Amino acid sequence: MGHKLNLVVAIIAVVLSSTVIIGPYHSFVKQFKELGAIIIPYISSSQGHHHHHHHHPQRKHPSKGDPINICDDFPPDFPPPDTNTTTTFCVDRNGCCNFTTVQSAVDAVANFSQKRTIIWINSGIYFEKVMVPRTKQNITFQGQGYTSTAIAWNDTANSSNGTFYSGSVQVFSNNFIAKNISFMNVAPIPRPGDVGAQAVAIRIAGDQAVFWGCGFFGAQDTLHDDRGRHYFKDCYIQGSIDFIFGNAKSLYENCQLISMASPVAPGLRVINGAVTAHGRASKDENSGFAFVNCNLGGTGRIWLGRAWRPFSRVVFALTSMTDIIAPEGWNDFNDPTRDQTIFYGEYNCSGAGSNMTLRAPYVQRLNDTQALPFLNSSFIDGDQWLQLY
Ligand SMILES: *[C@@H]1O[C@H](CO)[C@@H](O)[C@H](O)[C@H]1NC(C)=O
Ligand SMILES: *[C@@H]1O[C@H](CO)[C@@H](O)[C@H](O)[C@H]1NC(C)=O
Ligand SMILES: *[C@@H]1O[C@H](CO)[C@@H](O)[C@H](O)[C@H]1NC(C)=O
Ligand SMILES: *[C@@H]1O[C@H](CO)[C@@H](O)[C@H](O)[C@H]1NC(C)=O
Ligand SMILES: *[C@@H]1O[C@H](CO)[C@@H](O)[C@H](O)[C@H]1NC(C)=O
Ligand SMILES: *[C@@H]1O[C@H](CO)[C@@H](O)[C@H](O)[C@H]1NC(C)=O
Ligand SMILES: *[C@@H]1O[C@H](CO)[C@@H](O)[C@H](O)[C@H]1NC(C)=O
Ligand SMILES: *[C@@H]1O[C@H](CO)[C@@H](O)[C@H](O)[C@H]1NC(C)=O
Ligand SMILES: *[C@@H]1O[C@H](CO)[C@@H](O)[C@H](O)[C@H]1NC(C)=O
Ligand SMILES: *[C@@H]1O[C@H](CO)[C@@H](O)[C@H](O)[C@H]1NC(C)=O
Ligand SMILES: *[C@@H]1O[C@H](CO)[C@@H](O)[C@H](O)[C@H]1NC(C)=O
Ligand SMILES: *[C@@H]1O[C@H](CO)[C@@H](O)[C@H](O)[C@H]1NC(C)=O
Repeated sequence: MGHKLNLVVAIIAVVLSSTVIIGPYHSFVKQFKELGAIIIPYISSSQGHHHHHHHHPQRKHPSKGDPINICDDFPPDFPPPDTNTTTTFCVDRNGCCNFTTVQSAVDAVANFSQKRTIIWINSGIYFEKVMVPRTKQNITFQGQGYTSTAIAWNDTANSSNGTFYSGSVQVFSNNFIAKNISFMNVAPIPRPGDVGAQAVAIRIAGDQAVFWGCGFFGAQDTLHDDRGRHYFKDCYIQGSIDFIFGNAKSLYENCQLISMASPVAPGLRVINGAVTAHGRASKDENSGFAFVNCNLGGTGRIWLGRAWRPFSRVVFALTSMTDIIAPEGWNDFNDPTRDQTIFYGEYNCSGAGSNMTLRAPYVQRLNDTQALPFLNSSFIDGDQWLQLY
């Protein structure tokens, strides 16, 4: 995010106690494994491994005495042939089907296709930076489970053209869908006082995007929910400072929101993270984040949100939160003029972090009527597009 945010982040970070930074790649992979992931190593032998951008599968029938072919277990007759409504491309790191990288499959998608292209991605961590341009609409990334399939890269704000371009995956097209896959940024976790170390896992800048059963792994600025209407269901989202940020209009249902900010000793009045930094800049913008039936936990001492821009709009409803939430709950970006224009609401939440007694004065305790517009997919005009999926 911009300079102003960096400054505030730096101020927050200064009060952090210093911690040993474990190489984030190893810690993410460890965490990934703890979640049940099977990490498939690269096959270094030439057998079954192809660097071609795409080709036909190299399957062969096993017979006695043949060396084991790594593609033998590959689903037979896959990918299926095109239908009137879908085309399926297959990505496998070990070269068992059409493509070995996700980007090469995206590149092969017809421009402005009205058909849906399902990019089926086999288990494994794909180390590549992936860009889905505006012309490649109607793409589905189908993984094998968010603890089995991941796309990972390690750009930071410094190593790319600023935070907005640091995403391991960047989606600029409309009608993008992802299922059962993770997006990771494995750049070094920012240390207290670091500048330019923000590292986005995915940027979603197209309209009508859907994420089912997906994982988002990073530290500062994990999920750049940039613009458009988006739906997240059953997702796992991890980060520290502003880990869901942007100016999209999004509904998050049944998601796990996990803070990985450093633990803060009881009694210390230190804040070292925020779940959201929503970027609504004027009253004419129809954007906002709604969290419904989510679980919020992890480590650190954090805010539910802070007002990146003056009309920031976020609602937490029917969500359970642990005691990592600071009693004031929210932050106006240290700019009291924003108190009149931000919209921060909570509705029927539970858990130690949901106690609203000491909340900042501008926080709204929503009643049933006020909460209603945020509680289902009507919030993102889902009746116009979501039921198609
Ligand atoms: C698909 O297209 C073909 C040729 O245009 C047509 O004959 C067939 O009925 C279509 N199938 C479906 C399921 O729409
Ligand atoms: C993918 O592989 C299948 C099966 O071999 C083949 O029919 C199809 O043409 C391939 N698609 C591309 C885009 O290479
Ligand atoms: C899509 O359009 C781009 C730029 O116009 C072109 O370079 C590319 O070859 C096209 N891709 C396909 C698969 O048609
Ligand atoms: C990303 O990882 C590669 C390989 O470890 C390393 O050479 C590169 O410097 C890293 N980039 C950043 C921005 O950390
Ligand atoms: C770099 O970032 C600036 C500011 O965000 C943007 O205007 C510009 O288009 C970006 N350049 C490229 C090559 O992406
Ligand atoms: C494909 O994308 C276009 C433009 O985003 C959209 O209008 C259309 O409904 C999409 N089609 C399918 C099959 O999802
Ligand atoms: C995701 O994977 C789980 C188990 O692997 C499966 O039950 C579920 O149907 C999959 N969902 C999607 C949307 O692919
Ligand atoms: C980012 O770049 C700035 C300016 O070059 C530098 O001062 C800073 O240390 C860099 N940050 C990181 C995390 O490398
Ligand atoms: C929210 O809480 C109020 C008061 O406790 C209750 O009347 C209402 O039914 C609850 N709404 C939902 C959707 O659980
Ligand atoms: C909520 O917090 C206030 C102030 O700390 C405390 O007095 C009250 O007991 C808490 N309520 C619950 C239900 O824990
Ligand atoms: C909810 O709050 C609004 C705004 O304060 C008020 O107009 C409305 O009567 C309330 N509705 C209920 C059901 O309490
Ligand atoms: C969502 O709630 C609204 C009330 O705000 C209701 O009119 C609408 O039918 C509901 N939509 C769905 C898809 O359940």
